[in-house]
Formats: sequence, C-alpha cells, structure tokens
Amino acid sequence: MNLFDVYPLFDIEVVRGKGCRVWDAAGNEYIDLYGGHAVISVGHSHPDYVAAITAQVQKLGFYSNSVHNSLQQQLADRLGRASGYDDYALFLINTGAEANENALKLASFHNGKRRVVSFNKSFHGRTSAAVRVTDNPAIIAPVNEGMPVVYVPMGDLSRVEEEFKKADVSSLIIEGIQGVGGIQIPSDDFMRSLRELCTRYEVCMIVDEIQSGYGRSGRFFAHQYAGIRPDIITVAKGIANGFPMGAVLISPMFKAVHGMLGTTFGGNHLACAAAIAVLDIMDKERLIENAGETGRYLLRELATLPGVKELRGRGLMIGIEFEAPIKEIRRRLLFEHKVFTGVAGAHTIRLLPPLSLSLSEAGEAVRRLRRALAEAQ
Ligand SMILES: Cc1ncc(COP(=O)(O)O)c(C=O)c1O
Repeated sequence: MNLFDVYPLFDIEVVRGKGCRVWDAAGNEYIDLYGGHAVISVGHSHPDYVAAITAQVQKLGFYSNSVHNSLQQQLADRLGRASGYDDYALFLINTGAEANENALKLASFHNGKRRVVSFNKSFHGRTSAAVRVTDNPAIIAPVNEGMPVVYVPMGDLSRVEEEFKKADVSSLIIEGIQGVGGIQIPSDDFMRSLRELCTRYEVCMIVDEIQSGYGRSGRFFAHQYAGIRPDIITVAKGIANGFPMGAVLISPMFKAVHGMLGTTFGGNHLACAAAIAVLDIMDKERLIENAGETGRYLLRELATLPGVKELRGRGLMIGIEFEAPIKEIRRRLLFEHKVFTGVAGAHTIRLLPPLSLSLSEAGEAVRRLRRALAEAQ
C-alpha cells in the first residue's frame, strides 16, 4: 500500500531530537527553528517529559471517558493556574481542528445562531466547521460549504459591526496571532474593540491560540497582551509537546449538558500525563520568560539582515518577510546550513522554535541565516 501523497516532502528523515536540535538518518545535526510546526514546546525528548509518559504508560495508557480520570482534573487545575483562567472549564480533545470544531458548536448551542465572522488569511484547521472558517477556498470541499461564514479584513472594526448588526452571528473566531497567514498580529486596540462588540451584540468571542498560545508569544496567551478575556479559547500544538492533544477553555457563561460534546480519545491518561509534564517543565524552566527574552533578541538580530522587508513577531513566533522569494534561501538554510524553518507564502520565513531556545542557539541560527542569504545573492 502507498501513502496517500498529500505532503510535499523535504528529502530528510528526522530520527532523533534533543532540546532544540534534531538529527537525520545520516547523522547530520540541525538547529530546529520550526518545532515540527510549533508543536515542540519544552524541547525534544525532555527527560522529565520522557519519564512522565513512560511511567504513565506502564500504569495505564488509556481508558474511556465513561469513568473518572483524575489526571484530567489535575491538568485543568494546573492549566487554570498557569494561564489565569482558573474560573473557566476545560474540554479535552486531540487536535487543533477538533478544538475549533467544538468551540464553534458550543457557541452555536449556546445562542442558537449559525453564522460566523472570521478574518482574511485565517487558518483554523481542516475538519468541517474549522475549515469552513478558514480563509482558503482550496481546502474547503463542497461538503463543507453549508455553514454561513463571512471573512472580514483584519483591523476593520466597522465591517465586523456591520455583520453583527444583522443579529444572526453566533461567534467570531480570531487567531491570537495569525500563523499560516504570515505572523499577522492583531493590534491590542483591535482585540479590545472586538471584545466590546462581541459583548454588545451577544456574539461569542473565540480566540484560537493553537499556534500563538501556551507561552509562545512570551505571555501564556497572545491575547493577554490586550488584557481581554475571550468567551472560548482553543489550544493544541505545544500543549503536550507532540503527543496529540487539543483543548477548549470555556467561560462560566456556558452551561454543560451531558452528551453535548464528546470524544473517544480526548483527555486520555497518556495525553494528560504528557500535558501535565509540559506545564511542570514550563514552570520549572521559566520557558515563557525565555520565549519573551530570546524572541526580543532574535527580533533585534534579524533586523540587521539584508533584504528584510518586514519583521513581525512576539516571543518565539516570528515572521521574516523578505523583498525576494525565500524558496532558495530556505533550501540552503536547511540542506547546507542545517537549520529547520517554517514558511508562510512565497516571501516569509516563519520561526516557531521550542520555547527553550537559548540565546546562543538563536545567535548561531542567525549567523547561519546570514551566510545562506549571502550565498543566495
Ligand atoms: C491557528 C491554528 N488553528 C488550528 C490549527 C489546526 O490544528 P491541527 O492541525 O492540530 O488540527 C492550526 C494548525 O496549524 C493552526 O495554526
């Protein structure tokens, strides 16, 4: 049987990781500024993380959501304290798309409305409702088209209000920082105004922190720069450092009803052990502070590179937009200089390293990028 060929692949197999480094099958060492797409939060194969999931799977890997699992409550307590959302409730699933899917459903169950306001360049996942609120017609299949959605330009408050005035909008969904869209940061003022409008028009405010959350921005959540509290927050990616897990943080205004949401695998014992270990390590190693500090250092250093049109970022979520296309630079960076990076469009390199990236690793990566740029001239 062949694999269904949907991924354009680099000809590299990563077989080992440690901290912010990975090694390929031929033994080459790379600096990882990509984190497997923002998933590796506490570093590859962190010993405490490995010990926690090893100990858990030796006891119990999985049992269903039909019986008590105290690890879920432990995780909820820890996450509530770490994020400042102690009074919210937690629903656990397996992926980011699933988190948004459940968030959109919950909002619609709550207010009985159907329409959703989303933003240009947004990405929220590939399942039915999540892909429908994603601004990319190429990945929306005819079967997804039923749900009414409008995409509005980022920053355009009057367009949002125009839609809200029609009185049929269930929720507004916005990324804390747009990732796939090229590291676009909604202004703090815009976020505050959206919060106000959502309250005034009784629209549920969903903030997708799947890529920008869990410490990546230098705060626990990127929206916390604006000092707002959304009604629903979605997370995934870094929550369990590569163990598949997603979560929905739900304001006390929502009433839980038995059976309204559910999942087979979500919140299983092994995933919870992985997620608790991640919060322990983030706390012990002050990784949110590190993301802020290393991110500020990177922004200063990257600003000195030639050919940069615009630098955007907070913490360790950085977009470097170049004047020229970046395909060749990125290829050289990976194959000649051994640095993994991400991409957003033809001109933007995206940096999403583990939150444990040190200043010296960041400095070394920038030196390699400078050399790759010089060679690509
Ligand atoms: C902001 C955002 N939302 C949702 C998703 C979807 O997450 P998943 O691939 O885990 O379904 C992603 C994935 O890249 C994302 O960046």
